[in-house]
Amino acid sequence: MSYSTYLLKGQKALVTGASSGIGESIARSMAASGAQVAVNYHSEIQEAEKVVDDIKAASGKAFAIQANVANEDDVKSMFSQVLKEFGTIDILVSNAGIQKDSAFVDMTLDHWNAVIGVNLTGQFLCAREAAKEFLRRGVQPDVSCAAGKIICMSSVHEVIPWAGHVNYAASKGGINMMMRSIAQELAPHKIRVNAIAPGAIKTPINKSAWDTPEAEAKLLQLIPAKRVGDVEDIAKAAVWLACDESDYVNGTTLFVDGGMTLYPGFRENG
Ligand code: BGC
Repeated sequence: MSYSTYLLKGQKALVTGASSGIGESIARSMAASGAQVAVNYHSEIQEAEKVVDDIKAASGKAFAIQANVANEDDVKSMFSQVLKEFGTIDILVSNAGIQKDSAFVDMTLDHWNAVIGVNLTGQFLCAREAAKEFLRRGVQPDVSCAAGKIICMSSVHEVIPWAGHVNYAASKGGINMMMRSIAQELAPHKIRVNAIAPGAIKTPINKSAWDTPEAEAKLLQLIPAKRVGDVEDIAKAAVWLACDESDYVNGTTLFVDGGMTLYPGFRENG
């Protein structure tokens, strides 16, 4: 896949959860589109370093940065390091997310708090720090017509209820109202806040749902496009939402799901 290096030329991006899966692909794609990229990871240091090395080998600029996005001190220190390294920030991709699944009555408070902590509170903490810098700096017309862009990683489960994953679905439903409320508040300052809602994408988080032919056939019943998505499907959407081509798009969720939210079970029923 090729990207135009002009799309994000001169912009500085932070991608959380960028050592694997969707975040990794977004970090690589933003670098290929001309951005300097801070590659956040929680514990996979070697994987994050590999992403950084590959970006540098392709003449890009990147560095790896550890932080648990659910921890306020970690997030504040991550942002001060990004500002020290890059001078400012133009794009935040709040991607880090986890699942801790169980039947509802067996769900522990620890598992509830862990998922809400990373998936929702983590996005709040990162968005708040990014917004402070966007407001301080304002628009730099030679870089972007926006003062900053925030992309929240949501999920089709912001609208599709998900038995056995109540904490996860609640976190993604929360992202929808958080994202739109921040967008409403910050739009007058030329800050754009949007979300991407991926469907089933081949990543480590849902490996058991696609890594055998039987599992994949079952999963495909939910996807009108009849293919499980690739991380690049999401990365392309993220680059577009981050660049000036989408300047008039604010407070929206872009579903990239092969039609999963078309509820294919209703095609011949209901
Ligand atoms: C989840 C995946 C799941 C997909 C579709 C995503 O948000 O993280 O585990 O396969 O939604 O259900």
